[in-house]
Amino acid sequence: MRYEVDFLVVGSGIAGLSFALKVAEHGRVCVLTKGDAQEGSTRYAQGGIAAVMYDSDSFDKHIHDTLVAGDGICDRQVVEMTIRQAPDRIRELVQYGVGFDRDLQGDRFDLHREGGHSEFRILHHKDNTGEEIERGLLEAARQHPNIEIKERQFAIDIITQHHLGQRVTKHTPGIECYGVYALDCDTNRIDTYLSKVTLLATGGMGNVYSTTTTPVISTGDGVAMVHRARGVLSDLEFMQFHPTSLYNPAEKPAFLITEAMRGAGAILKDRDGKEFMQKYDSRLSLAPRDIVARAIDNEMKISGKDYLYLDARHIGKQHLIEGFPTIYAKCLSIGIDITRDMIPVRPAAHYQCGGIKVDLNGESSIRHLYAAGECSCTGLHGGNRLASNSLLEAVVYAHNAAMAAIEEVRHLGYNAAVPDWNAEGMVLNEEMVLITQTKRELQEIMSNYVGIVRSDLRLQRAFDRLNLIFRETEDLYNRSVLTEPLSELRNLIACAYLIIKMARARRENVGLHYSLDLLQH
Ligand code: FAD
Ligand code: SIN
Repeated sequence: MRYEVDFLVVGSGIAGLSFALKVAEHGRVCVLTKGDAQEGSTRYAQGGIAAVMYDSDSFDKHIHDTLVAGDGICDRQVVEMTIRQAPDRIRELVQYGVGFDRDLQGDRFDLHREGGHSEFRILHHKDNTGEEIERGLLEAARQHPNIEIKERQFAIDIITQHHLGQRVTKHTPGIECYGVYALDCDTNRIDTYLSKVTLLATGGMGNVYSTTTTPVISTGDGVAMVHRARGVLSDLEFMQFHPTSLYNPAEKPAFLITEAMRGAGAILKDRDGKEFMQKYDSRLSLAPRDIVARAIDNEMKISGKDYLYLDARHIGKQHLIEGFPTIYAKCLSIGIDITRDMIPVRPAAHYQCGGIKVDLNGESSIRHLYAAGECSCTGLHGGNRLASNSLLEAVVYAHNAAMAAIEEVRHLGYNAAVPDWNAEGMVLNEEMVLITQTKRELQEIMSNYVGIVRSDLRLQRAFDRLNLIFRETEDLYNRSVLTEPLSELRNLIACAYLIIKMARARRENVGLHYSLDLLQH
């Protein structure tokens, strides 16, 4: 089937839906999403969204905290723009129907604090902020007559001059996006979506690693698509590991214990119940995430144990049950009463700071292609994202991209010369076991050699092992009927390759990139 839409959006998380709602007044919008519409990292977000809402805080402080967490390599202009826009974007979320908790009087937002923040500035909805944001945005989008949300549609590749038979390299000037090819996961048909403007909002790539807080859909599809289309990517060496995921090895994704719990006073302890963060940073358990994750990793290596503890018992039963109901219930379901027991935690891959390089308008290096949310790289996070700045970045860049796209769409048409997907010669129905096993191997390689602590040798070893997996999978891909798992595997391999390549190119320790062979920034 061939479809024509003014605005094509790939992804129905906070970034995709925020963009869709804004452009919908100016044309027809089609949102493709590979699973159920609500599934994505957005709905798992716990802590909240950072913004300066009252005079007790200031833009300058939030800017300063972001720059410090980013370890000196954030783009200052981007940081200032994002943080100054935050209150307006929060008010819009509220208008769309998103509820944030308020204080007892009900006239002010109740604000939390997280690692790296010098003030209480995290707007939240109990400890399930993302679920509330996703609910509010999805309800608003579903009610809009110009927005069509199509579930179980897997975008395979963005369409460029390459599909018109032209040779496209990363040096080709003026690469253009004409839409995407997408697999209908119910019929196995590959459809052609022609668009005037396309937004990638495909989220993260946590599943490159064995242990991740991100849902199974986070397989770096947008980044891999732009890589194949020869677009510009950046900063992928900065994979953020969240210090405290619940240690419950069989569970995927790993359940998060929000940093807001440390903001409320919970303390990291070793297996003997002793505090250890004083050895690493004067900000203790509330130091920026890269520092805390490395400290935990080091303590785990010293003790040879698989987890450490987060002690929240002294916070008080009522505060824990009312303030963190999701975490309380989850832990209780596996026999841990957080009001009486310490919580076993370990770091898990959580957030990709890098991605598709975009400018202040969210425009990528490929014309008519925008990116927003976790798949993008704006320069806000530098070497390490400040907690709760990601939902903020997503709404700010969805807004900027929408404003630019609304302007651009007036002058654009569809490219009728685009051919339909060519599935000739693809006859093999591959055994699922080959795909799942290769995925597991890939995750092991990345976790063992390209995790929190790296070295030249580990990166070289990962690169060599990955090469084999890459060749096997490309061979499979060239002969096989296209399926979602095979496509995702291919995308994960591309992302792993890019992480390793950029990690090898980064010749100093900065932010989340830490190698035993390099000097500190
Ligand atoms: P997502 O919400 O991940 O959505 C991606 C969308 O793209 C999905 O709809 C998916 O189906 C679709 N998609 C992907 N590939 C394809 C494809 N090939 N074809 C079609 N559709 C596709 N950040 C904060 O700021 N504060 C927090 O408190 C916070 N807590 C977090 C807690 C957890 C457990 C996790 C995992 C992350 C947390 N983050 C938090 C990070 C934040 O939630 C994410 O970065 C953010 O939600 C990403 O939003 P997004 O719209 O970019 O992508
Ligand atoms: C958390 O709640 O700890 C996650 C916050 C974030 O990733 O920004």
